[in-house]
Amino acid sequence: MKLSASPAAGPLRGDYQPPGDKSISHRLAILGGLANGETQIRGFLDAADTRATLAAMAAMGAEVSENDGLIGIRGGRLRAPSTPLDLGNSGTGMRLLCGALCGHPDLHGASLQLVGDASLSARPMGRITRPLGEMGAMVHASDGHAPLNLKPCGLKAIRYVMPVASAQVKTAVLLAGLFAEGDTVVVEPGPSRDHSERLLPAFGVSLFDCEPGIGLRGGQKLRAASCHVPGDLSSAAFVVGAGLLAAGTEGLNLANVGLNPTRDGVLRILRAMGGNIELEAGDAVGAEPVGRLLVRQSSLTGIDIPAEWVPLAIDEFPLIMALAAVAEGTTRIQGAAELRVKESDRLAVMSEQLRRLGVKVEETPDGAIIEGGEVKGGQVDSAGDHRIAMSLAVLALVAREPVEIDNAEWIRTSYPGFADDLRALGAQLEWID
Ligand code: S3P
Repeated sequence: MKLSASPAAGPLRGDYQPPGDKSISHRLAILGGLANGETQIRGFLDAADTRATLAAMAAMGAEVSENDGLIGIRGGRLRAPSTPLDLGNSGTGMRLLCGALCGHPDLHGASLQLVGDASLSARPMGRITRPLGEMGAMVHASDGHAPLNLKPCGLKAIRYVMPVASAQVKTAVLLAGLFAEGDTVVVEPGPSRDHSERLLPAFGVSLFDCEPGIGLRGGQKLRAASCHVPGDLSSAAFVVGAGLLAAGTEGLNLANVGLNPTRDGVLRILRAMGGNIELEAGDAVGAEPVGRLLVRQSSLTGIDIPAEWVPLAIDEFPLIMALAAVAEGTTRIQGAAELRVKESDRLAVMSEQLRRLGVKVEETPDGAIIEGGEVKGGQVDSAGDHRIAMSLAVLALVAREPVEIDNAEWIRTSYPGFADDLRALGAQLEWID
């Protein structure tokens, strides 16, 4: 499906709340399925990716109920699924589940297969099969890609020094460590999102710090928890971007936004570009910091983005590239080669789509150099990547003509209500079959 996005006719206004956090929702679906008793979740993200993880847990015997926005998961006893577990487009679902299942005692002796769509089947899985293999897991990925074939078995703990900062790898190893003999430790080259470390204690799992790593002892029993999912900063970021661009926007209010410091790179970057974003810390939701944002239209300026900020904004680079296209001067992104193995090669795809809109972009092996200027309208393509589709829709607010985004239906994987939410704030977006 196409999404047609028109230049803003006026300021964006109103109050907004982002949908539930995707990373946290995936983790809760898995932990709820592993834990004894009924886990209750408010604010679970209702999107294709997180639904796939929940369905996978249900296919292994977790009893999932839904009542007026409250998700219940009665877990604690898994059985081998009768069909392959389909994680669709979700790298988080596939990598985390692989870690959680490869040593699960209820599944020893069974054969499981984790499958995904074409995009997920092209993403690297060696980054999890290597450490899990070192733990003794029997996980096979042909040529380093999904489908993943698993024969769950006994595991031994390892100390794993991760070559790249990745919360998915860290979490996969820690989840496997729950069923391993001994103390599993992961050491990261730099900070990645720490939702797993914040959530596990609520399920009765203790972690220990062992500078520079984090670890847990195998054999700990998980007990059900009652949890709230904060709003997803990665989804809210599109509304922040829209507010910064749409002429005359004075006070766009975003409430219940997750502000975990391992995720807030996008706010640092946009503020460094001159974005007028006020931040007001609120009460924590569970172990996660949450707050409000107030966004005003701003004149943005290109910057050199420090490489150490990249992992803290890893999912927001399509949006940052879109905003850089209309910032004054040059924006340089470096140290961001990981963007090439996301739902699409985001450096290549964004560079190409921005060029179609008349932007001067030089793609580099680990980043891009973007000259800000005017953006014309026209036809672009999301290449099946939800965040690219949404970023281009935001950029359309300041294009000279409407922007038509092909393959925009992929937005459903993380933020099905994106177009409705932006429309409610005053933007003009229309789905075309
Ligand atoms: C995620 C980690 C990140 C991020 C992804 C969600 C998670 O991936 O890009 O959208 O929930 O752990 P990497 O671990 O590959 O950096």
